[in-house]
Parts: sequence; structure tokens; C-alpha cells
Amino acid sequence: MALTNLYLTPTALLISLALMLGGCQSLNSQPDRSLYQQLGEREGIENVVEDLLYLIVEDERINQQFKGMDVARFHQNLTDQLCELSGGPCSYTGREMRELHSDMDITDTQFNALAENLILAMEQNDIPTGAQNRLIKQLLPLYPDIRNL
Ligand code: HEM
Repeated sequence: MALTNLYLTPTALLISLALMLGGCQSLNSQPDRSLYQQLGEREGIENVVEDLLYLIVEDERINQQFKGMDVARFHQNLTDQLCELSGGPCSYTGREMRELHSDMDITDTQFNALAENLILAMEQNDIPTGAQNRLIKQLLPLYPDIRNL
């Protein structure tokens, strides 16, 4: 394999990892539990989003972007979104992803930083690794809208 083929941008790496690990679901000890249940249902997702907020505040790569935002609304809307994407009985009623993020000039590094913090928050809440990867996989289609591509 040519050396150039081994070079992956962080985003390509994240996507490859999610696809590879998504394909390993059969290795998961509880393959039939829905993703929503594995995340701890609504309450589990609320806890993950709360921990994600603390991690965002500490993260110099992205915290400037979040200055002045409505924390309660963010918590509610992101919880609804993750709940819906994981197959839970919720509906995201916030603004469109592209519209929300259009003026932020979000870079790949910042997108990956948020994904990394979400993984850390799930780790802190003992979410199984297979479920973490399945949720990240659900978020990947949002990438072009959030990056405004
Ligand atoms: C997978 C990646 C992402 C997802 C799923 C996501 C999801 C969301 C959702 C659901 C909202 C609505 C919350 C609300 O109504 O306040 C939101 C708002 C917001 N997002 Fe993202 N986001 C992502 C990446 C990012 C990144 C990388 C940044 C910046 C570095 C960012 C910055 C913001 C900010 C500042 C708001 C609040 C906007 C406002 O209050 O007008 N997001 N995001």
C-alpha cells in the first residue's frame, strides 16, 4: 500500500473508525438492545449532555464559540436530538443544523473536538464502547451541515 494511502485526516479517521467499529456490532455482548436503551434512555442521555457541557467549557479548542449561549436550551435540544437519533421516543424541535452553525466557521479540528468530548462524556457515564460508536455513526451525516460545506 502506498504511503499516501495511509494518510488520513482526523475526520476521515473518525469516519473510518465509526464504520469499522459499526461493523463489529455482532461482537457486542448485547447486540439486540436498542441504542437508546444502551445510552440509558432519556435520563442517561441527559447526563451525557450535561457532562459534555462541562467538557466544552474546559476545552480551549471550542469554548469561545459557545460563549453566551443559552445553556438550558442547548441541553434540552441536544438531548432531544441524540434521543431521536438513537431511536428514542423524542423529536428534535430546534433549528436546522445548517442554519444554527452557518456563521461559526467551524473547522475539522473543532468538529472532531466536539465528537471527542461526546465520546469522553459517554465514557464517564459507562456507556458501552459499541453504543458510543453507533451514536457517533448517527452523527456523521450531520457533518456537511455543521461544517457548512
Ligand atoms: C456532531 C457535532 C454537533 C452536533 C450534533 C451539534 C448539535 C447542536 C444542536 C442540536 C444545537 C441546538 C442547541 C440549541 O438550540 O441551543 C447546537 C447549537 C450550537 N452548536 Fe452545535 N453541534 C455540533 C457541533 C458543533 C461544533 C463543532 C460547534 C463549535 C465548535 C458547535 C457550536 C454550537 C453553538 C455555539 C450552538 C448554539 C447556537 C445558538 O445558541 O444559537 N456545534 N448544536
